[in-house]
Amino acid sequence: MEILGIENPFPLARSYLARSLDSTQEEAKRLASRWAAEGGEPAFPPGSLVAAEEQSAGRGRMPGRRWSSSPGQNLLFTLRLSPEAVRLSALPLRIGAAVCGAAAALADSIGASFREPPRLKWPNDLMFGNAKACGILCESSGLGVFAGIGVNCNQRAFPEELRGRATSLALELGREVDRWALLELILGELESSLEDGSWRERVGRLLWRAGEEVSFLPGPAPEPGREPEPLRAFLRGIDERGALVLERPDGTAEAYLAGELRAPPVSGIKS
Ligand code: BTN
Repeated sequence: MEILGIENPFPLARSYLARSLDSTQEEAKRLASRWAAEGGEPAFPPGSLVAAEEQSAGRGRMPGRRWSSSPGQNLLFTLRLSPEAVRLSALPLRIGAAVCGAAAALADSIGASFREPPRLKWPNDLMFGNAKACGILCESSGLGVFAGIGVNCNQRAFPEELRGRATSLALELGREVDRWALLELILGELESSLEDGSWRERVGRLLWRAGEEVSFLPGPAPEPGREPEPLRAFLRGIDERGALVLERPDGTAEAYLAGELRAPPVSGIKS
């Protein structure tokens, strides 16, 4: 593992880069617990991060789902946040808003523009249309919150099973991006805005399919092959807890803290 030569605005934070890891989530937890138990090097206080060029067991939010990424093409990292971050509601959406802001700033800095603006798909994805460009996985322990962020940066081809469902900043901008410049911009946004009281307005403005019809599987991930019939409703926003507010065709609204949003069904329902 080497020291990553980027600007990390979190006080005393360290940034590391590994060529290949099982998962940056696991490595960040190992580094944090080793540093907490023994002190000394390598230091890994809150604000520190570990990035990898490649992961052999990159994890997604849903149990059993892998995060697939071509080696050396994308941004894969885990940021250790202080234990106080646990009390921040909708943390993955706040982080997603920071990634959207950073991606827009990166595009501006190279005089490029996205084919369409990035949107936040509740609860943790950054989308261009119906294709995902970034996933966020927040896990917490007594050592703090471990925010794992995977941004598809320069990958242009995806495995068959992801085709049409995954995209990258390079595909959306029509040119390569500097992964480390993006990382610095993300860290800057997170350091300045993570605890921002106006997170709900910011996230609300970026929300994928706001006001539109969606398909939703409520609750924890179902076992494969045992999926219930998805609910069809209109996406009305998010509440102060970060729960997804849906309005059913009969006009009743309900807020959901867990579940999976899907691309809308082909045939619509009447508003
Ligand atoms: C999701 O969309 O379900 C979340 C994906 C999170 C992927 C990132 S890549 C860096 C970090 N390490 C992991 O193993 N997962 C996260």
